[in-house]
Amino acid sequence: MLQGKNVVVGVAGGIAVYKVVDVVSRLKKQGANVYVIMTQSAANFVTPLTFREISGHPVVVDMWAETTNWNVEHIALASCADLFLLAPATGNMIGKIANGIADDMLSTTVMATTAPVLLAPAMNTNMYLNPIVQQNITKLTQLGYHFIEPGCGMLACGTEGVGRLPEPEAIVAKVIDMFNCKKDFAGKKVLITAGGTQEAIDPVRYIGNRSSGKMGYAIAKAAVSRGAEVTLISGPTHLTPPVGVTFQSVESAAQMRDAVLSHYSDSDIVIKAAAVADYRPQTMSPNKIKKNSATLELVLEKNPDILFELGQLKKHQILVGFAAETQQLLVHAQEKLTRKNLDMIVANDITLPGAGFNVDTNIAKLIYRDGHIEELSKMSKEELAEIILDRICI
Ligand code: CTP
Repeated sequence: MLQGKNVVVGVAGGIAVYKVVDVVSRLKKQGANVYVIMTQSAANFVTPLTFREISGHPVVVDMWAETTNWNVEHIALASCADLFLLAPATGNMIGKIANGIADDMLSTTVMATTAPVLLAPAMNTNMYLNPIVQQNITKLTQLGYHFIEPGCGMLACGTEGVGRLPEPEAIVAKVIDMFNCKKDFAGKKVLITAGGTQEAIDPVRYIGNRSSGKMGYAIAKAAVSRGAEVTLISGPTHLTPPVGVTFQSVESAAQMRDAVLSHYSDSDIVIKAAAVADYRPQTMSPNKIKKNSATLELVLEKNPDILFELGQLKKHQILVGFAAETQQLLVHAQEKLTRKNLDMIVANDITLPGAGFNVDTNIAKLIYRDGHIEELSKMSKEELAEIILDRICI
């Protein structure tokens, strides 16, 4: 799977170093050329000799040591890397990279590389959850560094929680995944909506819904990594827009409609994951409404159905909608597919545990224009995003 690929493995100092020996061995078995750089503290846990024997190449530790082979050191390693794996990525090393510090062979080489960098954090739970470490991870993610989430369980320090180095097979699977990343959306313009809209009642209150935006953001991220030119139009969420998207933030359904229509004619594929409010207050009170009556009546008027309009205006576009239902899932979803002139609808029963709003998983049924229904099992929103894109590309 990794035949001929150059993978540089940066090993920082933590007890999980012993697991990285297995990672290196597995990468070799997949056909990769593996070069290891260790920090001095990593070398206190496992000797460079072990990594040299497993990788079949000299191991670089000391910046100032007499060079044995210039082809595998410092800048040479930075530029030969097809992928840079940092495991374990300690809090200290993550902090150095996030803040541009290069004071040893490993941090210097990471700074010098233009290859994709994958970090596998491993540390004590409180260290991992420390806001400074979390900020550093967010910063690096926004800059395009890749992370594999640490596992949960008993840690070497005797505590239980998040911070374990993922199992070697999971790390190697992620490396393979990064190399295999398909570019099947290259040259395609994809318009995605996400999150819920907010319809103002007064300057303080609004009518909203429980959409987190996670599904739409996952699709946007996957489409970018598959080569698409992505415009993401989003209602308010707590999420950071994926790197590489053109992002437009909106609040109300009316604003979302304007934004979507202005991009529509230029789009090849439109995926409407947003939970758009069907009604809005007929008038927005210019001042905060005071609680001086026992009841309050709000008159609501219908919002435009954006997806219906897109279906009417459709020319060359592939249109994908979502249907979140609490009853008669297939009946309602099929009716929306036809009425809105869609090519595919992603239907999910939000009453099922592990499906719907504000969770990280979904249980979807994909319904196609020809009536064919594909039932998917419970999976992460990231996995579902890839499947939706796979089906669009058929
Ligand atoms: N949608 C839209 N504009 C609206 C309402 C919905 O574009 N005003 C889109 C959503 O983004 C989603 C699809 O239509 O892709 C279905 O949304 P949903 O809320 O499930 O259906 P509705 O058409 O609003 O029907 P109902 O609320 O009666 O179930």
